[in-house]
Amino acid sequence: MNRRQFSLLASLALARPLPAQTTQPAYAEKYRPQFHFSPRKGWTNDPNGLVFYRGRYHLFFQHNPLDVKWGNMTWGHAVSTDMVHWKQEANALEPDRMGTMFSGSAVVDWNNTAGLQKGEDKTLVLFYTAAGGTSPESQGQPYTQCMACSNDRGRTWIKFAGNPVVPNLVGHNRDPKVVWHAPSRQWIMTLFLDGSTYGFLTSPDLKKWTLQQKISVPKVGECPDFFEMPVENEAGVRKWVWTGANGSYLVGSFDGRRFQAEVMTQPLSYGANYYAAQTFSDLPQDRRVQMAWMSGGRYPDMPFNQQMSFPYELKLRRYGYDSYRLFALPITEIDSLRAAPRRWKDQVVKPGENPLAGMQGDLWDIHAEIEAGQAQEVGFRISGWTVTARWKENAREYSLQNGPLSAPVPLRDGRIKIRILADRTSMEVFANDGELVMPTCFLPEEGRPGLELFAVGGAARLLSLEIFPLKSIWTTASANSTGAIPTFLPPQGLKR
Ligand code: FRU
Repeated sequence: MNRRQFSLLASLALARPLPAQTTQPAYAEKYRPQFHFSPRKGWTNDPNGLVFYRGRYHLFFQHNPLDVKWGNMTWGHAVSTDMVHWKQEANALEPDRMGTMFSGSAVVDWNNTAGLQKGEDKTLVLFYTAAGGTSPESQGQPYTQCMACSNDRGRTWIKFAGNPVVPNLVGHNRDPKVVWHAPSRQWIMTLFLDGSTYGFLTSPDLKKWTLQQKISVPKVGECPDFFEMPVENEAGVRKWVWTGANGSYLVGSFDGRRFQAEVMTQPLSYGANYYAAQTFSDLPQDRRVQMAWMSGGRYPDMPFNQQMSFPYELKLRRYGYDSYRLFALPITEIDSLRAAPRRWKDQVVKPGENPLAGMQGDLWDIHAEIEAGQAQEVGFRISGWTVTARWKENAREYSLQNGPLSAPVPLRDGRIKIRILADRTSMEVFANDGELVMPTCFLPEEGRPGLELFAVGGAARLLSLEIFPLKSIWTTASANSTGAIPTFLPPQGLKR
């Protein structure tokens, strides 16, 4: 949600009916993303509370269960065993007298610092903003930070009796992201304050918080994230990464009290369809996986509105002499969706030819390595949407176009490397092994479900091309989901 929408809060119509049910079965609707998460019904925006515990990944999400428009914010909940196939569960947090439920995060309280553990299972803790004044019941209440706990692996959630855990600090402060800082044995919360200001707070027990530092990050607002990562190409070096809702990020060091930014970079992703990204907490093997709201997509006449990005695996690398860069690629778990690929080597594409004629479908994972040759442009047309690489002779970079978006990308060894994840209503394009990501939403062109590969202004040479048709993540089981609380299976294998 952008800031303009806040002015609409007062006029929140809570019970606008959802569009008449389409006759298509749930999850098979015309514009339903087939391997990206979207809610069964109603609106979603930010991913919230991404966390892993005992074999299950939890995705909470800003949700309006009553309308396909933003409002009545509730935390929806979906669970997965691979971050790819999701099953929507009962809503986790409903609006209350303190406000509607705005964005936040989740952690596993491994050391029972809050003292709220009941049995064997660790307490899962959600941090959310109670947005006072955004509903008739919460008129006059401020925006505060609250927590809710689960003692049954995320099946049921109980709001903490001592809420709020952080009183209102300023205006519409919101979107707490909590992380454990092992060296100082305390929790760190980064919180959006207002304008382009954020706070860092610390706590020994998740319940009492102290504001330690404020930072100002020009042109950035809302939904911070904060995490430590190894620098992949510098053995033994780890850095702290702070990200804002628009994807701009800072890389620096953190001593448990103060964050010292060393590098500020441009967003990792190009374009408007990637917002409020968050990374999973408590992933095994030091993994860092991020999901975002693919804001701004259109889904006409659908019973749902908006979708999440595919999960991206993040890597941090030293970049040039004095910088660091995040790289992002789809998580390898996507392999489970792949059908048998078609492969080409040293394929020449002449203007007017389409070597992919006859390939039908709308879900693809495409890997292409293209030599900057005689052609001025090489491109794919997928469901009527165009992704192309354009370059000039002797240029050291090319221009990557994804629909109306265009970004400069450096040529690597005179080559262009592109990966495309094509779903029914989104196209995520990754260049040079994740150096740049262009996520876009689109509406497929009627009657053009196939694949085209084309060259403009001369013959192009594809050093390699590999195309995997992808399967849908929605199964009969998820389609039949009623949103009722499920019976949880015993934890499978993965124990922490
Ligand atoms: C970002 C945001 C958050 C807020 C939430 C409300 O999209 O505006 O700052 O918590 O959406 O839905």
